[in-house]
Amino acid sequence: MIRSVVCGVGSALPRRIMRNADFEGMMETSDAWIVQRTGITQRHIADDSETTASLGEAAARAALKAAGMTPDDIDLIVLATSTPNRTFPATAVEIQERLGMHHGFAFDMQAVCSGFVYAMTTADLYIRGGLAKRVLVIGSETFSRILDWTDRSTCVLFGDGAGAVILEAAEGGGTIEDRGILATSLRSDGSHQEKLYVDGGPSTTGTVGHLRMEGREVFKHAVAMITDVVEATFGAGGITADDLDWFVPHQANKRIIDASAKKLGIADEKVVITVHLHGNTSAASVPLALSAAVQDGRIKKGDLVLLEAMGGGFTWGAVLVRW
Ligand code: ACO
Repeated sequence: MIRSVVCGVGSALPRRIMRNADFEGMMETSDAWIVQRTGITQRHIADDSETTASLGEAAARAALKAAGMTPDDIDLIVLATSTPNRTFPATAVEIQERLGMHHGFAFDMQAVCSGFVYAMTTADLYIRGGLAKRVLVIGSETFSRILDWTDRSTCVLFGDGAGAVILEAAEGGGTIEDRGILATSLRSDGSHQEKLYVDGGPSTTGTVGHLRMEGREVFKHAVAMITDVVEATFGAGGITADDLDWFVPHQANKRIIDASAKKLGIADEKVVITVHLHGNTSAASVPLALSAAVQDGRIKKGDLVLLEAMGGGFTWGAVLVRW
């Protein structure tokens, strides 16, 4: 039996930090409002020289270093992003070139904030199907480029950044004690498109567009969708919340994270939180949080880790992995 085992994780953030107070001179808002509604205190914002490709490359290099690998060892790159450098070619191919990698193959995946769990699930299938041995899975975003900076109800929520994980094929296993991805579950429902979308695109307006969101509507659905997909993953993995060592949710809003963990019966001390420092970085949020928890020694080899995300579409999904 082939398993996809995590063997390295890395991240990258833009140099510039924008604190809540920095919005106060731009629009009618306050640090207190943002913290109370979202838990966010600051976010990183890309400058002109920083792009989804450059941040993705930096995160990839950090993950390769952590794994003791070089780009020569990788045969597939899957990049989750909704903010590609160009409409085409895929930004994954640009990252492939930046890494000096001229073998294998690379493609982008677009599932908005759920992009990283979609990409992990896809990479796992390529590995278990025998089509790839080592996959670089990246989530990289520059959401600051699609924000309407005059809309206080959205622009305070998001940030830029990237995270990456390397998955490697390993033989053996078959129990929940064995390392690797144990279970995955994905969902989408396009009837919710108008609640969270970008009002531009190559085939419609010919523009890039700006993010539009009915925040209260998204909030209303988020907890139920997250708990549904997590419970499906628990069922597929044959585990309960008590078995988990770490819960690494999509970092959109501290209130959504707290409510989901509570409904699932996951103890607060098992929840990895980075939303206060990064804001919502869409597809980058889960690997950024993973990277923080691995670097500070919380997530260790052998731990049972649950990743989860929900985003535009709506899309939602979860991945259970023995680290
Ligand atoms: N500062 C001050 N006031 C604000 C701000 C702001 N930045 N933004 C909105 N307000 C005002 C509104 O105008 C409104 O004023 P009104 O009552 O005079 O009309 C008031 O605050 C309340 O607005 P609501 O939208 O009802 O506020 P709510 O409590 O729902 O909080 C928020 C808004 C934070 C967006 C919340 O709905 C939320 O977190 N939703 C989920 C959003 C999310 O997580 N999206 C991402 C998930 S999917 C993905 O990651 C892409």
